[in-house]
Amino acid sequence: MKFRLKENLLLGTATAATQIEGGDVNNNWARFASEGKVDDGTSPTRANDHYNRFREDIDLMADMGLEIYRFGVEWSRIEPERGVYSDEALAHYREEIEYMISKGIRPLLTLHHFTNPLWFEDMGAWCNKDAANIFLSFVDKMLDTVGDIVDDYITINEPNVYVTNSLFYGIWPPEKKSIGALVSAFSNMTEAHIKAYELIHKKRKELGKSKEETLVSFANHLRVFEPKNEKNLWHKCAARLTEYLFQSAVTEAMMTGRCRFPVLKRRGVKRGKYYDFIGINYYTRSTCEGIADGVKEGSDINDLGWEIYHEGLIRLCEGLSCKYGREYPIFVTENGTCDNTDSFRSRFIYDQLKLISETDNRIERYYHWSFIDNFEWREGEAARFGIVHCNYETQTRTVKDSGRLYSAIIKNKGVTDEDYERFVMGSSYHK
Ligand code: BGC
Repeated sequence: MKFRLKENLLLGTATAATQIEGGDVNNNWARFASEGKVDDGTSPTRANDHYNRFREDIDLMADMGLEIYRFGVEWSRIEPERGVYSDEALAHYREEIEYMISKGIRPLLTLHHFTNPLWFEDMGAWCNKDAANIFLSFVDKMLDTVGDIVDDYITINEPNVYVTNSLFYGIWPPEKKSIGALVSAFSNMTEAHIKAYELIHKKRKELGKSKEETLVSFANHLRVFEPKNEKNLWHKCAARLTEYLFQSAVTEAMMTGRCRFPVLKRRGVKRGKYYDFIGINYYTRSTCEGIADGVKEGSDINDLGWEIYHEGLIRLCEGLSCKYGREYPIFVTENGTCDNTDSFRSRFIYDQLKLISETDNRIERYYHWSFIDNFEWREGEAARFGIVHCNYETQTRTVKDSGRLYSAIIKNKGVTDEDYERFVMGSSYHK
């Protein structure tokens, strides 16, 4: 055995509704794509046609032995107009969740993952002062629909990535570059998360579920920030400042209600603990010499040029456990890499899981991003993150070698010498 999987670590995959479902034209990313703004000209209206093929996909997950699945629902399908709910969409999601449970896969439901219904987008989305309440009505409806069968929830995915790309760099819809908008969105998303946390617990209690049976948090995108030159004072300040503005302030606000710039305190937001697990999406390290991302010279990189730095996840987990409580389990709600030809993804999985298994940390669940190649936002279909290949023309699914290795790890509870030789040995990352 090359290594044994950490005891009690559950393995599965993560996806997001807009990135896999196809068909929905009523959300801001479908509109953005229809304006020709996705780099490769593709649109999430195609994606993996998962809305129609969810049984096939879940069957495949079950065949691969996946134990847990993080997925999202498309708000714009459920509430196509403000206050008007689609019975068809609600029934669809209930059926999909019942199906995965019947296959022995534990669902983790994401309520917001980057995409907004057009009606919400056109009223300013997360910058609208009523955003949190508007979101809460939708959350309430979801709980009425699936609250009895879903125990685990993520309110909002990566508020910092959403806000930075949509409202600071202006490279995602609605393409704004405004500090005021950034502050509003951070503040309203914090309010939305905290109130959704409370609402989900309240609704679950009404359904007779105990506090312990309900797990709610958010998926926090975290990076390690480091100065390009350790001895350069400006590089050091840039690293600390970027870290604070991009992630530390909003993490603290969402988790505890303690709001500091760029997050403002909204009415009704009280100090507390708004997490039942620590959810972390981890991809890379940022090497700083200014307020922008950089990549460490000579480091291993993926097909998008992101540094592959496995230790970063362990370092972040240690920091989070120390700050937010060692009693809380950590769920790696996303981790993965863009490898269009699947030439090093097996090594990536091997290296990351080995490190998780051999170091001291509270990680209890690992959701690999992603189950299947999917619509990768601005990069469209060009960037492949899946352990299952998708031929978008024919919608044929083919398990990649990395998917075979992942399955074998679950089955064998570790990596055998044979699997190491077959899948990992001989492969290397880009430089
Ligand atoms: C997002 C996913 C995305 C992945 C890879 C995360 O930031 O939550 O939607 O596909 O990164 O870029």
